[in-house]
Amino acid sequence: MAADGGSRRRIPVAVLAGDGIGREVMPPALEVVETVGTRFGFDVDWVEYPWSCDYYTKTGAMMPSDGIDRLAEQDAILLGAVGDPSLPDHVSLWGLLIPIRRAFDQYINLRPAKLLPGVESPLRHSDRGIDILVVRENSEGEYSEVGGRVFPGTPQEFAVQEAIFTRRGIERVVKFAADLARTRERRLISATKSNGIIHSMTFWDEVFGQVMAEYPDVEGRLMHVDALAARFVSHPHELDVVVGSNLFGDILTDIGAVIVGSMGMAPSANLNPEGVHPSMFEPVHGSAPDIAGAGVANPIGQIWSAAMMLDHLGEAESAAAILDAIHAVLGESDIRTPDLGGSATTAEVAAAVQQALAAQERTPGA
Ligand code: NAI
Ligand code: MG
Repeated sequence: MAADGGSRRRIPVAVLAGDGIGREVMPPALEVVETVGTRFGFDVDWVEYPWSCDYYTKTGAMMPSDGIDRLAEQDAILLGAVGDPSLPDHVSLWGLLIPIRRAFDQYINLRPAKLLPGVESPLRHSDRGIDILVVRENSEGEYSEVGGRVFPGTPQEFAVQEAIFTRRGIERVVKFAADLARTRERRLISATKSNGIIHSMTFWDEVFGQVMAEYPDVEGRLMHVDALAARFVSHPHELDVVVGSNLFGDILTDIGAVIVGSMGMAPSANLNPEGVHPSMFEPVHGSAPDIAGAGVANPIGQIWSAAMMLDHLGEAESAAAILDAIHAVLGESDIRTPDLGGSATTAEVAAAVQQALAAQERTPGA
């Protein structure tokens, strides 16, 4: 959308900074979005909510009972991170993240693991490049409420946790991943474990094969998740698109994040691809209590997540400008936070990204 003439587009976006470093990396991301909005002709109306573990401690809930209704009024949700060491982790996950992902049918969790120029990977052969796109199933699978605990506190105590796999759930995530593979190198690996998990994972494999029959131009392959995890470390340059269940995708993307330099780099999108409901964008990392308050959290995962949000909202040019600015900072300067081996603060990296954006405007087309 052009900056000149006509009325500017207004985009309402819910902001949930959350806890710990979520609150430190969110302001730089909002500022970056405002900068590109000014340049590309849109305004974002930030609607900030304090929902977090802090909020839980004060009110007994991660969000108010009408929380989902309020979020439904926005075009997208930008989330920092939630989690507090004084509370069990399932409080924040089941009190906020999972209810949002499920209420808005955000069944795709898209997590790029891309090594940027100037960033050091802990892997020896990283000069061959790393550019993996993980598509994690985000609405069912192993993260399920079905189950329970019987005979609590007795020697017979046991717990049952059911994983839920539906034909519809597997089909739609595999289709999404195969469509993405078509825009890339047309290679898709499905994470499985059907040698050990003989009911749900054999079903997953079967549906994967049925969907892939509709994509003869995409090379589809099944790989056991343990072998695939090793592959992320030994041959990441050979991986293109990877699709996995909720748990497998979760684990593989933490590996993906560290091999591209740091947990602080990795962005993610919780997508409702049909656009019926708002999608949610968040860095892969958590609230990092070990560094919270020190002002040294890497803001790039959050800024990159905001760029994914703009792309999803149809502002592709502004998203590309943000990614170019991140490339410029990491590739052409030594300004980086301690997780990347530097000594810069969150604010210094944020300022460098803003400067790189300003430099693009001075040399348009660059
Ligand atoms: P974490 O991602 O918060 O931290 C893991 C390690 O990575 C820590 O050493 C941390 O300092 C480092 N790290 C993470 N982000 C960084 C950044 N931006 N810059 C520099 N270093 C960074 O994972 P952890 O420690 O397992 O979890 C901490 C809390 O966060 C827990 O309460 C957990 O439940 C929650 N969590 C929340 C998530 C979310 O909101 N989506 C996702 C993952 C964890
Ligand atoms: Mg995780």
